[in-house]
Amino acid sequence: MIKAVTGTRDTLPTDIPKWNFLESIVESVFSKFNYKEIRTPVFEDTNLFARGIGESTDIVGKEMYTFVDRSGESITLRPEMTAGVVRALIEHSLDKKQNLNKLYYMGPMFRQERPQAGRYRQFHQFGAEALGSNDPLLDAEMIIMAYDIFARLGLKNLLVKINSLGVPSSRENYKKILRDYLQPYFEKLTSESKKRFDTNILRLFDSKEENDRKIMEDAPLLIDYLDDESLRHFEKVKEALLASRIPFEVDAKLVRGLDYYTHTTFEVVSGSVGSQSALCGGGRYNLLVKELGGPDIPGIGFAAGMERILLACENENSFSVKEENLDLYLVAIGKGLENFIYSNAVNFRREGLSVDLDYLGRSVKAQMREANRTNSRYVLLIGGEEFDRGEVVLKNMGTGEQKIFTKDDFEKILLTVKEN
Ligand code: HAM
Repeated sequence: MIKAVTGTRDTLPTDIPKWNFLESIVESVFSKFNYKEIRTPVFEDTNLFARGIGESTDIVGKEMYTFVDRSGESITLRPEMTAGVVRALIEHSLDKKQNLNKLYYMGPMFRQERPQAGRYRQFHQFGAEALGSNDPLLDAEMIIMAYDIFARLGLKNLLVKINSLGVPSSRENYKKILRDYLQPYFEKLTSESKKRFDTNILRLFDSKEENDRKIMEDAPLLIDYLDDESLRHFEKVKEALLASRIPFEVDAKLVRGLDYYTHTTFEVVSGSVGSQSALCGGGRYNLLVKELGGPDIPGIGFAAGMERILLACENENSFSVKEENLDLYLVAIGKGLENFIYSNAVNFRREGLSVDLDYLGRSVKAQMREANRTNSRYVLLIGGEEFDRGEVVLKNMGTGEQKIFTKDDFEKILLTVKEN
C-alpha cells in the first residue's frame, strides 16, 4: 500500500471545521489591521532562499526540498514565505504603488526536518509582512496581531518573548566579544557548535546540549552591546506592547534561525504542546529587500505554525466547533420515484439548502439512520400511501413534529425549512 510521505499529513473532513475556524479568525484579525492577502508560488528559484534566508542557516543548509527540474533549473519548495513575498514586492514594484505594503498569507511550507508532534515536513503557516516603514509601532503590531489571534482561539498558556538583534555594526562588534568569551571553551563544544562558532556564532544560544548550554549561561549578551538607536527602537516596541496590554518577557538569548533579522525579534511559545513550543516567530529585516536586489526599504513580519496552534487548542480544549448540520434529507419510500426525488434535491440545493439523499438503495430505516448521522434538521419522506394521495411528509428532526404538504408544494416546504 502506498502511504503518505513521512512528515506529511492528510486533513480529513472531520478536521476541516477546526481549520476553517482558525482560517476565519486569521483573516478577520489581519483585515482589522488592514493587511491584504498575497499568494505566491509554492516553489521558487533556489537562489532566492539561499540569499534570503542565509547559507549558514539550518533551513538552507539541510532542510530544503531542492531539485533540478527538466529544464535544468534549481527549484526549491518554499520553506517559508518572507523571501517569496519580498521577491513579489520587488518584481511588481509594489513599493512604488504605496509606501507601506501590509500583506498577509496562509499556505503550505516544506522543510525536511525530523518529524515529531508539532513538526512536519509539509506544514502550514499564516503570517504577515509590513514593508516600507521602520516604525517600532509596526514591530508591536505584529506581536499584537499574533497575540489577538491566539486569544480569539481561547489559548491561555502563552509566553511572548522579545529581543533585539540591533544593526549589523553593533552585532559584528558583539560577535567578536562572544568569540573571545568562547575561545577558552572551544574544545569542549559539541561538533555542531564548533561549526557554528565560525559560520553563525549567535546560534550557539540555541544548542540543546547540556554542556553547550552551561557554557552559554554566562556568555555576554548582545542586548548589552546594542547601539543607542537600536536601544531606543526596542524601548518604543516595549512601550507599545505595554500600552496594548500584551504580557511579554525580554529574552536576551532569543536569536532565531534565519539570517535576515535586524532589531526586534520575537516568538510566542505555548506551554501546552511539548518540545515544539514556538507557535510563531518573527522580527524586523531592514536589509533583506535590498539584499534581494530591491529598493532600500525596511520590513517586519512573523509567521505561525497552524498545526502547532491547533494542537495547542486541542490540548487546552480552548474551542469547539459546531458539527455541520444538513438542512434536509430526502428519504425515498419504495422504488420508482428516483427522478422526482433527485430533481427536488437539485432544486432545493439551488435555493440554498444543504440537501442529501440516498445513493445506495437503502431501506427506509437505514435512510433515517443516515439522516440522523448527517444531523439533518428536516427529513422529507417521499413515497408510499401518502404519495399515492399526492402528499409528502416533512419531519422536523429536532421536535419530531410532522407536517403534510401536497407533493408539488416546493415553495412551502422550502420556506418551512428556511424559517427554522
Ligand atoms: P520560523 O520561526 O522558521 O520563521 O517559522 C515560524 C513558525 O512556523 C514556527 O514558530 C512554527 O510554529 C512553524 N514551523 C516552522 N517549522 C515547522 C515545521 N517543520 N512543522 C510545523 N511547524 C513549523 C519563519 O518562517 C519566518 N519566515 C517568520 C518571519 C516572517 N519573519 C519575518 N517575517
